[in-house]
Amino acid sequence: MTKQPENEPNKKQQQLEDFKVDHEGQDLTTNQGTKVSNTSDSLKAGERGPTIMEDFHFREKVTHFDHERIPERVVHARGFGVHGYFQVYEPLTDLTKAKFLQDPNVKTPVFVRFSTVVGSRGSADTVRDVRGFATKFYTEEGNFDLVGNNMPIFFIQDAIKFPDLVHAIKPEPNNEIPQASAAHDTFWDWVVNNQETAHMIMWLLSDRGIPRSFRMMEGFGVHTFRLVNSEGKARFVKFHWKPKLGVHSLTWDEAQKIAGKDPDFNRRDLWDAINDGEYPEFELGLQVIEEEQEFDFDFDILDATKIWPEEQVPVK
Ligand code: HEM
Repeated sequence: MTKQPENEPNKKQQQLEDFKVDHEGQDLTTNQGTKVSNTSDSLKAGERGPTIMEDFHFREKVTHFDHERIPERVVHARGFGVHGYFQVYEPLTDLTKAKFLQDPNVKTPVFVRFSTVVGSRGSADTVRDVRGFATKFYTEEGNFDLVGNNMPIFFIQDAIKFPDLVHAIKPEPNNEIPQASAAHDTFWDWVVNNQETAHMIMWLLSDRGIPRSFRMMEGFGVHTFRLVNSEGKARFVKFHWKPKLGVHSLTWDEAQKIAGKDPDFNRRDLWDAINDGEYPEFELGLQVIEEEQEFDFDFDILDATKIWPEEQVPVK
């Protein structure tokens, strides 16, 4: 090492003493706001250490790092979101006073998050499961969340059973198997004891359970909603998303192989498509039932385990 002549400013020393700023001139500080001059060397007892406990910045930085985690969601932990926009084809003034559904020239920004339900955050994309299809519309009048799934119905009629359903479908408690799927005894115990689930199981075990691409999935609001127009007239509606590319699935054999070769298959597909300018498009459709027709059907139109047959109530 060359020795610095005495009293001559040491450039490295000076850099170490200057407070750190980012490219916008913002100070680097501790969590308490104290400016920091060095965040790459801890205070040492002598040149070769050890690090000393007086270095409060070091202790805070490492403690903060050790706690950097967002609790995993209990369901829909694995998801992937993208930005886009929404436009109505024609004013829906007759049906609703919601401003974003009036003017075909208005582009409402949206954010859509696609997800699986059961698997943990790092699980494979191509598992057999329901897919979430959650859209947030950033409308002029505030945010409107349209939470949906890629199947038009749900497992249960009463929300109080949801914790029991999810506990049953999550991995077995004694061995934490299986990951991200429903093929195990606790789930089938649930199914045989809760007959309202039968309809959803048919959808889950159909081709819909393994979508080929998020761009090729339908979305359904599942619940029955009400739209109210400016005259106060209300109607029952169900929301549908129809992909312009059509609905496509993987075969079980393809899904299993892909899960091993590229667990990020669905998110990569969406990422690549958007980067290639192949923007996915979905059409928002509505089924509408007049309030006076509420009891005209041989099923309860508020029952989330039933569809409104499209031949009886067409999607517009
Ligand atoms: C039956 C009662 C239900 C309960 C108690 C329930 C509960 C939950 C919970 C706790 C989350 C995770 C929230 C978070 O940690 O951020 C969630 C997410 C989600 N749920 Fe449900 N859920 C129910 C029914 C449904 C239904 C019927 C649908 C379909 C319309 C649905 C679709 C979704 C979607 C898509 C997400 C993920 C949203 C996102 O991507 O951020 N859920 N649900």
